[in-house]
Amino acid sequence: MISVGIIGGTGYTGKYLLEYVKQHQKILDYSIYANSSAGSQLLDIFPELLGVIENQTIQSVNALSFEHDLYFISLPHGESLKYVPMLLEKGIKVIDLGGDYRLDSKELYNEWYGFEHSSSNLLSEKVYGLVDIANEKILNSNFIANPGCYPTSVQLGLIPLVKKFSDEIISISTVSYSGTSGAGKKAKTELLLSELDGNVKAYSVNKHRHQPEIEQELAKYGMKSPYAFTTHLLPIARGIYSTSTVHLNYEVSEDEVKQIYSDWYADSKFVRMRNTPPELKWVVNTNFCDINISAKDKTVIITSTIDNLIKGASGQAIQNMNKMYGWDETLGLLNSNFIKA
Ligand SMILES: NC(=O)c1ccc[n+]([C@@H]2O[C@H](COP(=O)([O-])OP(=O)(O)OC[C@H]3O[C@@H](n4cnc5c(N)ncnc54)[C@H](OP(=O)(O)O)[C@@H]3O)[C@@H](O)[C@H]2O)c1
Repeated sequence: MISVGIIGGTGYTGKYLLEYVKQHQKILDYSIYANSSAGSQLLDIFPELLGVIENQTIQSVNALSFEHDLYFISLPHGESLKYVPMLLEKGIKVIDLGGDYRLDSKELYNEWYGFEHSSSNLLSEKVYGLVDIANEKILNSNFIANPGCYPTSVQLGLIPLVKKFSDEIISISTVSYSGTSGAGKKAKTELLLSELDGNVKAYSVNKHRHQPEIEQELAKYGMKSPYAFTTHLLPIARGIYSTSTVHLNYEVSEDEVKQIYSDWYADSKFVRMRNTPPELKWVVNTNFCDINISAKDKTVIITSTIDNLIKGASGQAIQNMNKMYGWDETLGLLNSNFIKA
């Protein structure tokens, strides 16, 4: 049994961490730390959790205790840097849901995040926790950088193909759509219902911070071709939908590609291969990633969808914790439809 702290437990992803932690058989107790809501009662922040979670006072992240075995960190970018080094120094395990340690080089932080990384020595110590892609390093690791939401949907869809056909890929282009919760709880004019209702727009074109993360990770599977990534905002609260178009230099059969994916994900508990393009509503409020493959001539189109707050954040973080400790990957995530039959 372990004890956990959730730093940033009053945000969107923090809320789901809380729910999972509460129902997890191996978690004895937990504390919640936050910033402006420190001193408030948890059930005043999340009244919908009455009867689900016991009330407790939100603690200030400025008075962080080091009493827990593992800390989930769910803070705006740039904030995890303040806590990760001291937690690791004390031998405490960390799973960071933010982007502060996902990239491997400090130069990429200057370029894409606009800050000087203050603990770049830890970039090579972290394990990038794309947990549905086999990674022996997760077991017994102390420090996981939980992947971004878009990168999770895109990489689960692309890695099996990239690994197999890296020499034959001419280019890949991904068009992704997200709901507004991807931007967190903080009020922003462009996310108002009156701005978004009936609307769709591309944003951060050629500037999205998840692009270098995707490129970095695909390169580890042999990708050396041009990659384009375009993100769009949908007038919905939850979910990510990614369509990746892969141009190859030779003709590939759909059966061959589908077989690669069924073999790759045969033992995966949370990746489901679909015979038709998946729908967002099949995965919202679950830890699943649903994927469909369509191949014609020299082009493969991969559609993949996840819930950004669960598979793209808190659900994947819990799955990573389970792997870290060598527990059943589905522990705590086993809730009504959270698991493949
Ligand atoms: N939303 C998603 O779909 C998603 C998916 C994957 C990864 N992530 C990443 O997860 C992290 C959290 O995202 P979120 O959507 O949950 O954000 P959020 O809803 O905005 O919540 C942010 C949390 O951080 C706390 N906080 C804000 N400023 C702080 C500061 N200066 N110092 C300490 N605590 C501070 C807030 O506490 P108070 O409310 O008390 O100020 C709140 O608990 C981000 O790095 C994000 O990129 C988000």
